[in-house]
Amino acid sequence: MRVPLIAGNWKMNNTIEESLYLAKSLAEFSKSFNKDREILICAPFTALYALKTVLKSSKIKLGAQNMHYEESGAYTGEISPLMLKDIGVDYVLIGHSERRQYFNENDELLNKKLKAALKHGIKPILCVGETLEQREANVEKETVKTQIVKSLCGIDADCFKNIVIAYEPVWAIGTGKTASSDQANEIISYIRNVIKELYDEEISENVIIQYGGSVKGSNAAEIMAKPDIDGALVGGASLKAEEFINIINY
Ligand code: PGA
Repeated sequence: MRVPLIAGNWKMNNTIEESLYLAKSLAEFSKSFNKDREILICAPFTALYALKTVLKSSKIKLGAQNMHYEESGAYTGEISPLMLKDIGVDYVLIGHSERRQYFNENDELLNKKLKAALKHGIKPILCVGETLEQREANVEKETVKTQIVKSLCGIDADCFKNIVIAYEPVWAIGTGKTASSDQANEIISYIRNVIKELYDEEISENVIIQYGGSVKGSNAAEIMAKPDIDGALVGGASLKAEEFINIINY
């Protein structure tokens, strides 16, 4: 039985004060929330420590949006898995399309980051998805397959219980243009097949695969009703407590 994971990706938004305000509302809501789903906030590095203290006694998990693969060293401006572990972060986004697009992160680098996260007991959420050009050229499946095969290279089957995948078509992120629930389910079911080919049926049936890209309170239920989709990675709509709660509650 796969438990849906509803994750907010705050991106480069929220001061510490704003983060705490939002997290407190979500923590309050989560006290009486008893549907079987996991809730996660992926916040900026600067707010993680403060958020941990607020979320510690709640059901809401805490995630980072990126990390370096080395434990320490001369990497000015980077954050290591040990530092995230020190704060008590549960999850980390790996390979969000904005990291791929603006910071030139490629699958080889993401593979190192995935391995580092797993080694330190932080659950990676591996983000994959095609651009508009790739969809128009009908290569969306090949694109996500390559991203998955290369990023998972050398990762053992027994790590899989700690890996989440997020399918986020780049053309649907922050654009208000959601993939239709059928389009999203088609690719996610295809990803499940890729995992089956790489590992086995049991792993492919158990891995959590989220959809992301313009998810809102008004479309969450339809998307989440699809059989292969296990929750959402939510950007813009996770910045307001009320809207994010509508999604969590879908
Ligand atoms: P969006 O972003 O919900 O604002 O489209 C999703 C994401 O980038 O994870």
